[in-house]
Amino acid sequence: MRRLVVNCGQLLTMAGPAKPRAGAQLRAAQPVPDGAVLIEDGLVAAAGPRETVLRDPRAAQALVLDAGGRLVLPGFVDSHSHPVFAAPRLEDFERRIKGQGYEQIAASGGGILSTVRGVRAAGQDQLAEGLRLRAALFLSCGTTTLEAKSGYGLERDSELKMLRAIRQAAAATPLELVATFLGAHALPEELRGRKQEYLRRVCEEMLPAVAAEELARFVDVFCDEGFFGVEDARGVFLAASRAGLAAKIHAEQLSRSGAAALALDCAAASADHLDLLSGEELGSFAGSTTVACLVPGSNYFLGKPYPPARGLIDAGAAVALATDFNPGTCPCWDMRMILSIACTQLRLTPLEALTAATINGAWALGLGKTHGSLEPGKQADLACFDAEDYRELPYYFGSRPAAWTMKKGEIVHALGSLAG
Ligand code: NIG
Ligand code: FE
Repeated sequence: MRRLVVNCGQLLTMAGPAKPRAGAQLRAAQPVPDGAVLIEDGLVAAAGPRETVLRDPRAAQALVLDAGGRLVLPGFVDSHSHPVFAAPRLEDFERRIKGQGYEQIAASGGGILSTVRGVRAAGQDQLAEGLRLRAALFLSCGTTTLEAKSGYGLERDSELKMLRAIRQAAAATPLELVATFLGAHALPEELRGRKQEYLRRVCEEMLPAVAAEELARFVDVFCDEGFFGVEDARGVFLAASRAGLAAKIHAEQLSRSGAAALALDCAAASADHLDLLSGEELGSFAGSTTVACLVPGSNYFLGKPYPPARGLIDAGAAVALATDFNPGTCPCWDMRMILSIACTQLRLTPLEALTAATINGAWALGLGKTHGSLEPGKQADLACFDAEDYRELPYYFGSRPAAWTMKKGEIVHALGSLAG
């Protein structure tokens, strides 16, 4: 099947070198006015100025989709999320508003462990259905690929249940899900004080089972004070590499742990959060294949200082942006909100932010050769927004539409059907 998208008032292809965009490359993309995209069998055949694309003989028999003068760009590749859970954490939310810290709430049985209780009690079908519904929300905001972590099971069968739910949901949604095994997310309640025993289970019981069913592409570790240390993470990465899983890490979020240096040392696909990265460490990302994945929605939600994004880019790092969608630190699935925070608080330019949320997100998932930009042979994952200029995406914020709006007793706006 051939499709020709025409009348893209502005087209951002994000075409460029086949490696993560680092430093100034993050702002090298050139918006194309009056662009077109030719698609064949789900892959991009050509993308660029209309007259160039129309010169392709294959364009003649293609089904035409008129973008109506709107903005078209690669679908967002959201490279960090925890989207499998049973319930939101509204209690934690209120406790934080009243002054308790994330760490304090976690230490008293709230936080991650409260989500663990919910996930352990839920069936696989329930978790998969919840994820399928959330996937539609991501798609509605222009995200076409989403990383999805386990980490709320914290024992073999519950971790496997989460990963199987991700696989089940992936078969039921067009959103592409890339699974990550995050067994080392927290110490389960029943093993309090027995971290080494839990890590043994992660490495010797869970990882081999995850690999045997090919349930995850990545392993991740929450490397932070009160959770797991650098040597713990190194051990998990070693076991993961034996099992064929690549590494990601939650690094320098709540404390300075040395996790970022470990990520670089192990050539992890990404080091994520990096809120407390030191000035000297900024430059160490330059020239490395490890993407610095920033998730400023969590800083916004927790009221914590933002990561040194400007310093990272200026020092030559490849920066990605992700939602970190999860019930505890960032209940936001809308990448446009993350773009807004990135521009207004992290001082990324709109072009840097969009590059970070598309092609660099793809590289953070090891998918840079097939996803994240509109170039011949790559997956035709596109998002079209009612905008004339790409800068409108981070400029307008909080634009989530209401399910319906009533004025003087009349429905004056409705998204889909009113039933349900
Ligand atoms: O990325 N830092 C650890 N993991 C998540 C939070 C998970 C949770 O609170 O449920 C994060 O912020
Ligand atoms: Fe996270």
